[in-house]
Amino acid sequence: MSDTRIARGDPICGSQQHYIELVSEIIAQRTAGTGKLPGVYIMTFGCQQNEADSERLAGVAEAMGYVAVDNPRDASLIITNTCAVREHAEQKALSAIGRYKHIKNENPSTIVVACGCMTAQEHRQNELKQRYPYVDIVLGSSAWQRLPELLYRRLTGEKRLFCLDGGDAIPEDIPVKHEFSYKAWLPIMYGCNNFCSYCIVPYVRGRERSRRPEDIVAEARELVARGCRDITLLGQNVNSYGKDLDIGYDFADLIKDVSAIDGDFRLRFMTSHPKDATRKLIDALAASDKAARHFHLPLQSGSDRILKAMNRRYDRAKYLDTVAYIREKMPDIALTTDIIVGFPGEAEEDFEDTLDIIRRVRYDMIFSFVFSPRRGTPAAEMENQVPVEIKTQRYLALVELQNAVSEEINRKFKDSVVRVLCDGPSKTNKSIYSGRTSGNKIVFFHGEPADIGNFVNVKIERTEAFALHGEKTDEAPFDKR
Ligand code: SAH
Ligand code: SF4
Ligand code: F3S
Repeated sequence: MSDTRIARGDPICGSQQHYIELVSEIIAQRTAGTGKLPGVYIMTFGCQQNEADSERLAGVAEAMGYVAVDNPRDASLIITNTCAVREHAEQKALSAIGRYKHIKNENPSTIVVACGCMTAQEHRQNELKQRYPYVDIVLGSSAWQRLPELLYRRLTGEKRLFCLDGGDAIPEDIPVKHEFSYKAWLPIMYGCNNFCSYCIVPYVRGRERSRRPEDIVAEARELVARGCRDITLLGQNVNSYGKDLDIGYDFADLIKDVSAIDGDFRLRFMTSHPKDATRKLIDALAASDKAARHFHLPLQSGSDRILKAMNRRYDRAKYLDTVAYIREKMPDIALTTDIIVGFPGEAEEDFEDTLDIIRRVRYDMIFSFVFSPRRGTPAAEMENQVPVEIKTQRYLALVELQNAVSEEINRKFKDSVVRVLCDGPSKTNKSIYSGRTSGNKIVFFHGEPADIGNFVNVKIERTEAFALHGEKTDEAPFDKR
């Protein structure tokens, strides 16, 4: 029997719920009398969307009878949820998968699964097929929803299974195992229609599919009722939410409806596209007492010429106008952005335009990336690829400028009181706790276990470019969010 290749649209044989039950029965039989439940180890690369998917994979695995373990050696099921956004992300995922070879050698009954964005590309599926013979199941990004079915088929003797595309169905009614009780990702839509010329995401995640507003609001209400204090609405471009539903309901409406839920929680969202950052949305955020005072508005480049080649569909003027309106309505808001340096054809003056916008906007933080050609995207085929030394030089110049700006902005927090949602002790010093402000700044302070998952007020004593340091206080914060 040869490997099984499952095509888009191949009939799903029965509901996944049915397969969850079938796999649980197999596991119960195999572990009967041993008193030991099989372990599942999930390694996640990439963005918050992948983390949210992994929480669903963890939920499904638990429903099938697996228990989460921290070491792949203790696992009977190893899942690598991959990312393809840059070459480096793919290499990291491949080397993680490579490390499971000896685990599989030692224990051939371990099932090794690779899923996510990297594995939604045919050439990567072929590579895994040929060079990673110990990988049992390979699933493209939306195909992870079929894990119970494919796991059942593999456990009952089918050869290795490869499923590139799971179709467009939205994963409702899937058990979710949230990593944290006090903060949660809440996917509101899947896929992307924008086709920025450098980006692989639309190819690996498919077209935009919005969840129904009532499902999202119900999930948010349930999270708040369970004590969640920080909800991030997730999508590749949240402000085009709802366009595909055709019900005259958009992201601004969703912000209003989720904000109307009673409770002490912060509402965040990731990521928005500047072309769709409407005044209606900005007004809705300004009017909300729940919306965190943080706006991540990816610029990518400050040069009109490069923005056009990137197919971003806004220019400097439109971007700066949006920023001005955001600041007019929410003067205390933290702004962050993504920048790509070294896009094909980027000349020194284009890069200067990017630095110029950074000086004008004065972001709280930027995430900068060196352009990485992605197979199948238009930018990978463009002429005038920028040499690696120049990319590196520009990257370093960007980081240096931004460090100075971040340091200056944060200095203003000295002696002020901020409201912090506490995450827990730091890895290196157990008495130092960290948490986030409404503007998403990281704050370190002397905390205690009871603070974890709660809001505390912290008076800032010392600031750095990427963190604020202080002590807990009874004084009121300057922003109650
Ligand atoms: N949907 C989100 C971003 C998803 S990818 C948005 O549009 O904002 C996250 C970031 O990775 C992008 O904002 C971009 O800055 C960066 N990125 C995407 N493709 C890249 C590539 N080929 N090379 C380098 N950086 C890239
Ligand atoms: Fe990629 Fe552009 Fe879509 Fe963001 S909006 S995921 S950068 S194609
Ligand atoms: Fe990576 Fe896929 Fe997210 S490519 S950045 S995990 S959408």
